Amino acid sequence: MIRDYIILLSWLCTVSGKEGYFWHISDIHYDPSYSIQGNGNGRCWNTKNSADIGHTRLNDKMPSAGIYGHYNCDSSWLLIESAAKVMKANPADGIEFVLWTGDALSRHESITEEYRLQYLKNITDLLSHTFTGQFVFPVLGHEDIGLNYSQIANLWSNWLPDEALVTFRENGYYTIEQRSKNYQIISLNTNLWLAANTGIDNRMPSQRAVGSSASVTLAAASPVISDADPANQWHWFGSTLNKARKKGKISR
Ligand SMILES: *[C@@H]1O[C@H](CO)[C@@H](O)[C@H](O)[C@H]1NC(C)=O
Ligand SMILES: *[C@@H]1O[C@H](CO)[C@@H](O)[C@H](O)[C@H]1NC(C)=O
Repeated sequence: MIRDYIILLSWLCTVSGKEGYFWHISDIHYDPSYSIQGNGNGRCWNTKNSADIGHTRLNDKMPSAGIYGHYNCDSSWLLIESAAKVMKANPADGIEFVLWTGDALSRHESITEEYRLQYLKNITDLLSHTFTGQFVFPVLGHEDIGLNYSQIANLWSNWLPDEALVTFRENGYYTIEQRSKNYQIISLNTNLWLAANTGIDNRMPSQRAVGSSASVTLAAASPVISDADPANQWHWFGSTLNKARKKGKISR
């Protein structure tokens, strides 16, 4: 399911009159358990032989899932590969870079951290092979929580320069100053406001009330993040913007 994601990515650019192009990839939601034996009304998994009756089973009345996916399902690997192939086959003139704004993974509670990291690596490898001539700027999405930043930094070290890796390893945010260009990329990590165990946004109590009853219970049990500026992110963002402004990197 395509879910809203809470990502703030600032794209600072002095407009020099020249047109530029980039790909924006988001919400891949890779679900390794996707099965054509599943259907769009459940989790899209083959639960025929599973004891887990909580997930909808294949049912003649429900539309079945296709090999590339189903509108209500998270993505199969075939769908992701196919999308990558299309992007590779259509290298519109002058694609300068790729913004990859998170939610690469699927909300699949039972997958271990080790496997989630592996899936993120699979997608990272696919995008590396797809965009050999461009920089990919990756950002964390709310479905990508619960992973070790340092290990993700290792996956993304081909794209992120050392200075970016320093802050990413620690807190999941970074900036990249393109010295030869007029723009600067700032990538924030809004997951810092999420409760790591539930993924629920702690800033807005109203959000907690609209989750499933299970989430509400978990939210009530998890500590609310009261820190107004977790991991000093706003402070860092402000000073990064100030530095960029001084160097004339911001358009008005
Ligand atoms: C993901 O990577 C692992 C390890 O390299 C590999 O065994 C697996 O087949 C890959 N999965 C996909 C869908 O490519
Ligand atoms: C994250 O991984 C690094 C390197 O593998 C390790 O040193 C660090 O302790 C881990 N951090 C957490 C919070 O698990």
